[in-house]
Amino acid sequence: MSDTKKIISVVGARPNFMKIAPIHFAFEKYKHLVTHLICHTGQHYDEKMSKIFFDELDLPQPAFYLGVGSGSHAVQTANVMIEFEKVLLKEKPDLIIVVGDVNSTISCSLTAKKMNIEVAHVEAGLRSFDRTMPEEINRILTDAISDYLFVSEKSGIENLRKEGVPDEKVFLVGNAMIDSLIRNLPKIQRSGILKEIDLKKGNYFLTTLHRPSNVDNKESLTTVIHILNKYSQTYKIVFPVHPRTKSNLIAFDLYKELSENVILCEPIGYIDFIWLVKNAALILTDSGGIQEESTFLEVQCITLRENTERPITVEMGTNHLIGSDLKKIDQAIMSILDGKIKKREVPPFWDGKAAERICETLVERITKR
Ligand code: UD1
Repeated sequence: MSDTKKIISVVGARPNFMKIAPIHFAFEKYKHLVTHLICHTGQHYDEKMSKIFFDELDLPQPAFYLGVGSGSHAVQTANVMIEFEKVLLKEKPDLIIVVGDVNSTISCSLTAKKMNIEVAHVEAGLRSFDRTMPEEINRILTDAISDYLFVSEKSGIENLRKEGVPDEKVFLVGNAMIDSLIRNLPKIQRSGILKEIDLKKGNYFLTTLHRPSNVDNKESLTTVIHILNKYSQTYKIVFPVHPRTKSNLIAFDLYKELSENVILCEPIGYIDFIWLVKNAALILTDSGGIQEESTFLEVQCITLRENTERPITVEMGTNHLIGSDLKKIDQAIMSILDGKIKKREVPPFWDGKAAERICETLVERITKR
């Protein structure tokens, strides 16, 4: 009988794939001790939101695909739990790994903990202190029940301490998503996306929007369109449209308001997207991950949110936390174009080795039992 341990890592939505990929590769070194399997809940399912990332990141086919798809929060969370429980009953893993703050993260943590299976949370401790964000609820609940909390920036340690999480469960390991970026840099530098859509370094803005607070109401979406239209006179604007944003642009009949100079496209794969980040004059986004990627790549990022769960990107990085007021966004853009840019230092442990630290910590602990 083999005494190899079994770990199942969960991915569900687009920002999860680049966090699990380096962890999967880091476990290769421990193949004789740990079998590492990937479970994809199917929260994101479109080719451009899911499959392309597996291909580009060289991830193997997931061992389990739950095919849960979209739905209200309750429906999606509940369906992931029902399907994931079946996997756990059959596979009996020693531990599961969840990443980030999406609905799949809390669904799978909760399912596993109720079955007395240990949970490791990667990207633990981040807090926006805005409980109207579904992600904030997912983060707080996942951290409350996790056994190993892997933190990407120092704010995470402080937040967890304040919530009463014992220090011995918390590990500052750095940023697994930046591991993926560093690992893939050679491929990223070979991207042909600039040529393909006729862009040059620094002659375009890159925009992404998908937060309910920005795209689920007509007024906020209209504000962003005003800004994009204004600057599309002097800069090219690249706007890959997330499915949620697309359906709202249609529902509010706003496609016709967008200037024809705005380059609208489908969601873009990882390699081309990071190259677009790297070469943009500036970025307008409400994403969490892009705040970190732009800081790492030293590109100015205007975050269209009132708060961030990633304060290190403001303190040490190139992130300008501006919110959703049209005037403020406009002023922030003008000031950056005027040369008032933020320099950055790379945050501690964003060095491409976070996944190695995570795997080493877990293997050391679970193989001792
Ligand atoms: C989810 C995460 C969010 C993350 C984002 C990254 C939660 C609560 N939210 O938001 O934290 O930043 O992913 O993209 O988990 N849809 C498609 N194809 C897909 C996936 C979704 O068309 O492959 C459409 C569906 O109409 C769906 C809507 O997009 O109803 C929203 O998808 P959902 O997974 O509920 O949330 P996101 O907005 O993508």
